[in-house]
Amino acid sequence: MSGDRVVVVTGGASGMGLGISQRFAANGHPVAILDVQAEAVERETEALRANGAKVVGLTVDVANRAQIDAAYATIREQLGPISIVIASAGISRSQDFLTMPVDTWQRMIDVNLTGVFHSLQAALPDMVARNWGRVVTISSHAAQGGATDRAHYAASKGGVISLTKSLARAFAANGITVNTIPPSLVDTPLARFGATSGEVPPIEVIASHIPIARAGTPDDIADACEFLCSDKASYITGQEINVNGGAHM
Ligand SMILES: NC(=O)c1ccc[n+]([C@@H]2O[C@H](COP(=O)([O-])OP(=O)(O)OC[C@H]3O[C@@H](n4cnc5c(N)ncnc54)[C@H](O)[C@@H]3O)[C@@H](O)[C@H]2O)c1
Repeated sequence: MSGDRVVVVTGGASGMGLGISQRFAANGHPVAILDVQAEAVERETEALRANGAKVVGLTVDVANRAQIDAAYATIREQLGPISIVIASAGISRSQDFLTMPVDTWQRMIDVNLTGVFHSLQAALPDMVARNWGRVVTISSHAAQGGATDRAHYAASKGGVISLTKSLARAFAANGITVNTIPPSLVDTPLARFGATSGEVPPIEVIASHIPIARAGTPDDIADACEFLCSDKASYITGQEINVNGGAHM
């Protein structure tokens, strides 16, 4: 897919979001990277620009509505109306349920679920105005099967799946599709941190339990995003697209 449609990628400075940003930029799209890691935003924005891409990098906390509104105003000013949003920003930490502080629960919901709400509420009017749009949220296998030690994470991602389906229904008549990818195990800094911190087994050990016995890559996720955001996917909406090596069927 190549084109000049403006793409916003939250969490675009690392892992899947970075792979997706690189893919859309390589295909000729103007790309806005929104991420809370200032140094990574600067580094990855410069790297994409060095390859000739039109990129805006903005340091924002997706849970902060004022920062999100300001970021989308900047994107419109510098790149134009938004056609595609990939909501990949997210956090994941293990936490025993019975001793989970309310603040820990709340921050997980604020970033992983309310962060998606903020971005999509900010972007959808542009898509409605042009009668064309594509949204892909990154949810999680944890929402589909539960997560013993991460109830807050699984609940936040379950909310993302429900939000995705609701928006798919609400905006189907506007030429906008809204789908979610619930990955299982993708080799990213987030997954590596879980292993090195001892929260979960090493990636290779988890991968050995997946039918296609390897971790996914950011490119695997970018491949699906590229298709879902193309004109060829105009009849696919409200779906959980399981790019997971068969981990959940
Ligand atoms: N890696 C996996 O195995 C896996 C599996 C299932 C779901 N996921 C989900 O995939 C998405 C991408 O994760 P990843 O594995 O690429 O991790 P990652 O940590 O490499 O990338 C996530 C990015 O989101 C950013 N981010 C975090 N909080 C933010 C905030 N408040 N505001 C703005 N940006 C913020 C981080 O700075 C980071 O750059 C996440 O939503 C994650 O929950 C990951």
